[in-house]
Amino acid sequence: MMFHGCDLAALAEKYGTPLYLVSEDEIRERCGEIKRDFTEKYENTRAAYASKAFQTLEMIRIIDSEGLSLDVVSGGEIYAGIKAGFDPGKMVFHGNSKTKSEIAEALDAGVGTIVVDNLTELEIMNRMACDRGMKQEILFRVTPGVDSHTHKFISTGQLDSKFGFSIQETADTAVPAALAMDGIDLKGMHYHVGSQLLENTSHLMALDKILSLLSDLKARYGWTAREINCGGGFGVHYAGDPERIRISDFVDPIMRKIDDAYKDCVDTRPLVTIEPGRWIIAEAGITVYEVCSVKTNSAGKVYVGVDGGFPDNPRTELYNAEYEVEAVEKYYAPHDVKTTVAGKCCESGDIVAYDVMLPTLEPGDHLAVLATGAYNYSMSSNYNRIGRPPVVMIKCGKDRLTVKRENYSDMLRNEI
Ligand code: LLP
Repeated sequence: MMFHGCDLAALAEKYGTPLYLVSEDEIRERCGEIKRDFTEKYENTRAAYASKAFQTLEMIRIIDSEGLSLDVVSGGEIYAGIKAGFDPGKMVFHGNSKTKSEIAEALDAGVGTIVVDNLTELEIMNRMACDRGMKQEILFRVTPGVDSHTHKFISTGQLDSKFGFSIQETADTAVPAALAMDGIDLKGMHYHVGSQLLENTSHLMALDKILSLLSDLKARYGWTAREINCGGGFGVHYAGDPERIRISDFVDPIMRKIDDAYKDCVDTRPLVTIEPGRWIIAEAGITVYEVCSVKTNSAGKVYVGVDGGFPDNPRTELYNAEYEVEAVEKYYAPHDVKTTVAGKCCESGDIVAYDVMLPTLEPGDHLAVLATGAYNYSMSSNYNRIGRPPVVMIKCGKDRLTVKRENYSDMLRNEI
């Protein structure tokens, strides 16, 4: 089996398993599509890569070289961005519970946009910015009260959410407060309704609410927004349907709605930002495992145990994610055995994929799990004291190590 011009069995041999493989070509193609069909197609737009989906120094450098902005959610993500040479002025800093020290780090680094989630944060930020003689550009995170019909753990736009301000609180309290603050420059609004959305309905419903909020704010305070940040959430196909969703399927209807709203308006249309994470990286990554055990249990089910699982891919257990699995050396063999691919952790929920059709496998065979690029490396853990796999990037058929495998002593490095 090949992956972007590289032989998977040879890579498994060279780097060992489990192994994260990421195609730089695919990432650059996705960034290219975003430029062609969004930032270059529509004036006054920008795209920020939501780096929580997969943040390594090399990934940040790639995003930087593609000219995208960077969405960050913690002091650690800001720090890594700076280490990778990324301009903090092009960072968008999120978080519903930013610490005082993270706010200070963001202000001191010169982070371009901070998305403020709540009034406490607004007040702290204003004080800190005033102390530094600065005026920080911010957006408000607005929870538009829209249910995005995705898994509840990754749905964020509904009224009962830990994120952001309600429309009413934004209009009655947060905006007048911000407009009276010397350390705050309120640029606009941000919303993000949820992740892994396969269609646009909730995005468009949220946008309607944001647009009417903006006209209300204009009428009440004479304030006009300079930016609308529509968040991310653009979904990908994990299993089954091989058709990939174009970025234009998501952004064209968004831009139509925004342009319509501003067409007869004296104000110029605000900057429109999107924040795709998963859409850029999910399908660019795969994980390769070695089969350690094969058994048929007393219920007659075939279980294939691999040398990774929950520590490198928690998504099956957390979100019931479904992945496609391929047999590396037996790619062309008949896939006639219904197989559950089990991870190696001591817990029953540690399953990589349930009931997938695979050939008859033996220990030593390799399996490739597809579209694992988003939110696996970044959510990986050392559960059961298992080291994180290395990340190998592929570019033009050539492989290079970008993150080393975590060994036993790496896992003990902070222990006294
Ligand atoms: N912007 C904001 C404010 C977000 O909260 C998120 C994701 C994104 C952008 C990017 O969303 P994306 O385009 O990647 O869907 N761990 C979960 C996903 C959590 C998403 C959190 N926020 C998973 O593995 O599916």
